[in-house]
Amino acid sequence: MSAPVLTELPTGLDDLSVWPASTARLPDGDLSVGGVSLADMADRFDTPTYVLDEDEVRARCRAYRATFPDTDVLYAAKAFLSRAMVRWIDEEGLGLDVCSAGELELAVLAGFPAERMVLHGNAKSPRDIETALRLGVGRIILDSPSEIARIAALVGSDGRQKVMVRVVPGVSAGGHEKIRTGTDGQKFGLSLTDGSAQHAVARVLGQPQLELSGLHCHIGSQITDVRPYLVAARRMVGLMARVKESHGVTFPELDMGGGHGVAYRPGETALDLTSLARRLSRELSSSCAAAGLPVPRLAIEPGRAIAAPAGVALYRVLAVKHTGSTVFVAVDGGMSDNPRPALYGARYAPRLIGRSATAEPVAATVVGRHCEAGDVLAADVLLPGDVRPGDLLAVPVSGAYQLSMASAYNLVGRPPVVAVHDGSARLLVRRETQEDFRRRDIGA
Ligand code: LLP
Repeated sequence: MSAPVLTELPTGLDDLSVWPASTARLPDGDLSVGGVSLADMADRFDTPTYVLDEDEVRARCRAYRATFPDTDVLYAAKAFLSRAMVRWIDEEGLGLDVCSAGELELAVLAGFPAERMVLHGNAKSPRDIETALRLGVGRIILDSPSEIARIAALVGSDGRQKVMVRVVPGVSAGGHEKIRTGTDGQKFGLSLTDGSAQHAVARVLGQPQLELSGLHCHIGSQITDVRPYLVAARRMVGLMARVKESHGVTFPELDMGGGHGVAYRPGETALDLTSLARRLSRELSSSCAAAGLPVPRLAIEPGRAIAAPAGVALYRVLAVKHTGSTVFVAVDGGMSDNPRPALYGARYAPRLIGRSATAEPVAATVVGRHCEAGDVLAADVLLPGDVRPGDLLAVPVSGAYQLSMASAYNLVGRPPVVAVHDGSARLLVRRETQEDFRRRDIGA
């Protein structure tokens, strides 16, 4: 991910462009999201706390449906899932992409119809598959040759399960090496280049318990350029044409996965969804026409682009330390609630809230409270020079892959999630407590 551009600031200190649309400035340096003061929420729910703007989530779902009208939009639950989130996704008419029995069961428990879900996983456990079949998941995405016969056997002789084959189209895209999944040499999918994808298709077609509705690919995450999707789509149609040639079968569906990139800091670009919709549809029409194939129904699986911009993380400053030329601002959370900077070098734009600050900005490094030097939340950011213990910091674009990847490191406890909407706040997920830790630790 790119280096900090300190020269753009200090004007950037007051830039709200990556914040939820509902964000408003309040007196005394406070901000409101969803009509609720962030400083009040820090007082009421303590810190760290994650705030989720319900209207922002819903607006993003609606924007997807409007931009991709003839496409199945499946929210990728791994970005963030809770019962309320499931309900919002359902009410907005999206489907769900789940990748474990846990996500699947939570969604069903919250009332989401299993037939509008797809199940992913490069290594599906017996429990994942049993749960998917028992609850009637819409499609299972096959990711390895060994699961073909295994799933077919579990479906039973009078059942029939819709499946798709996950293909690696040989396209490199994504915001970091660890989240690029479009090329060979990583664990997901079946290669187009070495023939494994085509071989898997042939094996699935030989299983009467499996109905192969189409192909799937997911080339990576935090992608901000449309072109890799177009190349991938063209190659997927190429494979569909070969399948038609060899087996006389045309697939009614094509799932192009997720990966749609967002801006984490002012000035960064997000994937242009309007352009993706237009150019992908054009690419599919022309490639299919050239191959003599009907255009399949498209599915997409955005996670981050729906959840990330709706979330704001709130921390309280515990310590400020000047070491050499660096100002370390230590907060009461860190890599246990947001491992993304440590894992992917992700960069954020924290902001002081809750008091007006007139001091000249200084370059600071916001660190967490965990016992390792890599626990950095935001390096080289500008904060008011008088930042001090007791101050509140708010980090926008915190709604995806933070809490869903949170850990119990140092037994700090995972933060709560508070939904805001129309001037009121309600707790969706409570804070993890010492009592929770004690209850799991049952050995003498
Ligand atoms: N579909 C499949 C099959 C996926 O594996 C993923 C994400 C998605 C859809 C949704 O991708 P999105 O639209 O959210 O980019 N923990 C990393 C991201 C890992 C993404 C894993 N798969 C991060 O924090 O950046």
